[in-house]
Amino acid sequence: MDSFEEGAGGRREDTATPPRRLMQVLAGESLETPPIWLMRQAGRFLPEYRAVRSQAPNFLAFCYNPDLAVEVTLQPIRRFGFDASIIFSDILVIPDALGQRVRFVEGEGPRLDPLALADVGQLSLERLERHLAPVYEALRRVRAELPPEVTLLGFAGAPWTLATYMTAGRGSPDQAVPRRIAYGDPEGFDRLIALLVEAVSRHLIAQLDAGADAVQIFDSWAGALDQTGFEAWSMAPTAAIVENVRRARPGARIIGFPRGAGAYIGAYAATTGVDAVGLDWSTPFTASRQLPDRVAVQGNLDPMRLVAGGRGLDAAVDRILDAFEGRPFIFNLGHGVTPETPIENVERVVARVRARG
Ligand code: CP3
Repeated sequence: MDSFEEGAGGRREDTATPPRRLMQVLAGESLETPPIWLMRQAGRFLPEYRAVRSQAPNFLAFCYNPDLAVEVTLQPIRRFGFDASIIFSDILVIPDALGQRVRFVEGEGPRLDPLALADVGQLSLERLERHLAPVYEALRRVRAELPPEVTLLGFAGAPWTLATYMTAGRGSPDQAVPRRIAYGDPEGFDRLIALLVEAVSRHLIAQLDAGADAVQIFDSWAGALDQTGFEAWSMAPTAAIVENVRRARPGARIIGFPRGAGAYIGAYAATTGVDAVGLDWSTPFTASRQLPDRVAVQGNLDPMRLVAGGRGLDAAVDRILDAFEGRPFIFNLGHGVTPETPIENVERVVARVRARG
């Protein structure tokens, strides 16, 4: 029996779950010492991740193996003691579950058989939860093993970001192919987005049911769209997902990360109703003034500061802590950890954030 359970004499006096600090922030509290976690905190910068990764035949098989997924989800918690754990999976499990062929090419990234808008009808929602059952199994097992004060996050890609990979078949820095496809056939593109709203809503609800305390919606390519496109295919679908999830699971806590859309975060928060907005590093601190006081900010250290380290890193961390002091705030990066990140720099940032308050 572990120490979080009942003592030998029956129920302990102090069985009350310690507060999950990140959940307090999502409820609108500002904490003197902000909670910290990092996007892509389980990944190739950790030798223990690379050791587990080498046991799986390919990246998707790794994502769908609960034994391996649980282990790599817990690794950064053991090593750094973050306030939140994000389930190890990928945003591209959704197109895979819908029946589009997805593979990851070593050293290159994801490759999908590009989807023509005329073929959206061939995708199917029927097996979604069955296909993604290993993700839910991993969440249940992680929750059972996590210290009680650590928040567990589920996640999904936002419809626009998923659609970029689905239509182009791969990532690209400017999203020229998906933009041309969406602008050229907006009604056809709307049908793909509508299917993804349904898929993402269901996947997030199932993750909450499996033990996720909150969920994050990654719209990594939101900044590639013009204003009309951003409103139609980033904000509106995210608003629909938030509404679907909260209708099914009232009070569900949701973080939105519209990367590259710093100029719109006020409208994004108001339209979508998310509890927190992730900021990338190119967004000025003052943009957070667009947000209502109760909406948390998450971010926004440049991952390259974490790679570079030194006094510049310390100064960047301090400037972020100063900028968001007194408002609900979660310390994070402005995008994911990169593989070349020195572990000691991560330790240094955690210590510096924890020294606050
Ligand atoms: O944050 C975490 O630790 C949880 C796990 C997680 C992964 N991907 C694991 C992963 C999360 C939250 C993601 C999200 C994700 N996946 C996004 C949104 C966030 C972002 O980075 O913009 C996107 C766009 C993807 C799609 C994806 N998956 C790409 C483009 C790549 C290849 C690029 C790369 O870094 O290799 C992946 C692969 C991937 N997903 C890896 C990890 C740890 C690395 C692959 C490996 O270990 O071989």
